[in-house]
Amino acid sequence: MSAAAFGTSDFIVVANRLPVDVEKAPDGTLIWKESPGGLVTALKPILSARNGAWVGWPGAPDIGGGADDPIPGEDMLLVPVKLSAQEVEEHYEGFSNGSLWPLYHDVIVKPEYHREWWNTYVEVNRRFAEETARVAAEGATVWVQDYQLQLVPKMLRMLRPDVKIGFFLHIPFPPVELFMQMPWRREIIEGILGADLVGFHLPGGAQNFLYLANKLAGYSTSRNSIGVRSKFGVVTVGFRSVRVGAFPISIDSAELAATAKLPETRKRARALRKELGDPEKVLLGVDRLDYTKGIDVRLRAIGELYQEGRLDPERHIFVQLATPSRERVESYRAMRDDIELQVGRINGNFGRIGHPAIHYIHRPVPRRELLAFFAASDVMLVTPLRDGMNLVAKEYIACRTDSSGALVLSEFTGAAAELRQAYQCNPHDLEGVKNAIDEAVHQDPEDGKRRIRTMRRQVLQYDVDRWARSFLQTLAGTVDEAPA
Ligand code: ADP
Ligand code: F6P
Repeated sequence: MSAAAFGTSDFIVVANRLPVDVEKAPDGTLIWKESPGGLVTALKPILSARNGAWVGWPGAPDIGGGADDPIPGEDMLLVPVKLSAQEVEEHYEGFSNGSLWPLYHDVIVKPEYHREWWNTYVEVNRRFAEETARVAAEGATVWVQDYQLQLVPKMLRMLRPDVKIGFFLHIPFPPVELFMQMPWRREIIEGILGADLVGFHLPGGAQNFLYLANKLAGYSTSRNSIGVRSKFGVVTVGFRSVRVGAFPISIDSAELAATAKLPETRKRARALRKELGDPEKVLLGVDRLDYTKGIDVRLRAIGELYQEGRLDPERHIFVQLATPSRERVESYRAMRDDIELQVGRINGNFGRIGHPAIHYIHRPVPRRELLAFFAASDVMLVTPLRDGMNLVAKEYIACRTDSSGALVLSEFTGAAAELRQAYQCNPHDLEGVKNAIDEAVHQDPEDGKRRIRTMRRQVLQYDVDRWARSFLQTLAGTVDEAPA
């Protein structure tokens, strides 16, 4: 590629979604809204601070002009990659969320493998790589995100060998035995190995990846201890060294804490409790409506705790906020029906007119309102069957500025490695989940404060800025060790 073909952006995030989603109003005008999920929450502040570019899909078919028609924002350039309706169906709903997502989340639902889905995945990854190659300045740093774009690092390297490429996986990297199901397993490993640095949330993911780079793809690897705050593994690919490490993601904790402390947030939190009938304890769940999140698990646990009289539906109210997600994928539809049936059944058994035991909202909640919910709730329930990190758990802790509250946390989240003072539980063990909820609801307040204080120190110290700096400095080669 000639120098004239280089773009102007020195720092580029490439993610399946842009940080904003577009919707077409009936009169044809485009409405932009913040897009859902932890990846956007984590990366938006970093990119804003660096004045970079974000290459991504605008969340609806047939919209976007790529590098030819970028959207200049206040603090970043948005490069909308256009996908046809069929590409959305086969790349996003199909291969990304019908094959990879369930495979990487312990096959909670059965992954489907279709050759057409794979072909479109390759095609869409190529388009992302091409658009990125067009906006990247000479020697730019490009940070590719997540499972939807695992082939981009290799494709981009072939187009633009001058750029530095990082790849971070926001979801778990599966055990080797499960990964081996994937019909295109070698292509995926080779795709990721186009990067200079490959990051996972946990050392276990990095170890699984290194094993596959060696045994499946045949590269020589050196495996130091792949721990948080310790050394990296290295894969030798031809003349290149690809570093592989663990970088647990976090949140903008100081900003969240400051907003949670504002008088208007506190006022809204008090108003929310009042609207709920001033119960003794408010329990809260906040998730995308996804089968990995274990919403059904916590509903079953709460139903049984009401039944057994260990929780009282008059005094202990549960609020579940569930953002709609991937609604055209069949397994998501089935799960929504199941959850709404459970909510209806529990309210039918334990609620009374004007006083449901469970409040269920199937809409995204504005950020400020969400923080008021965190501030208003005594017990946060985070019970995924598998989750790469789970930012909600960290957000709740950051918002408990007076150190009150309690966190029930599944052992199967990345966050569990850091938030050791939570009431941890195995989401497959219903009695264990019930006991953790019971303990959290009836905790000794002083013990509770000690737990939250310790977790707040962790979350405030290891924030998203530190995560990004740690990854990007390692990518730039300015540090030898991941400070985490
Ligand atoms: P995932 O990336 O799988 O969606 P995370 O817990 O890591 O899960 O991140 C979810 C992000 O989306 C968090 O920042 C959280 O606050 C936000 N979020 C989740 N549910 C809702 C909701 N119902 N309303 C508003 N924001 C939500
Ligand atoms: O963090 C995992 C993730 O899949 C992100 O890649 C994504 O942006 C977010 O969850 C929300 O999912 P989706 O983009 O499918 O709505």
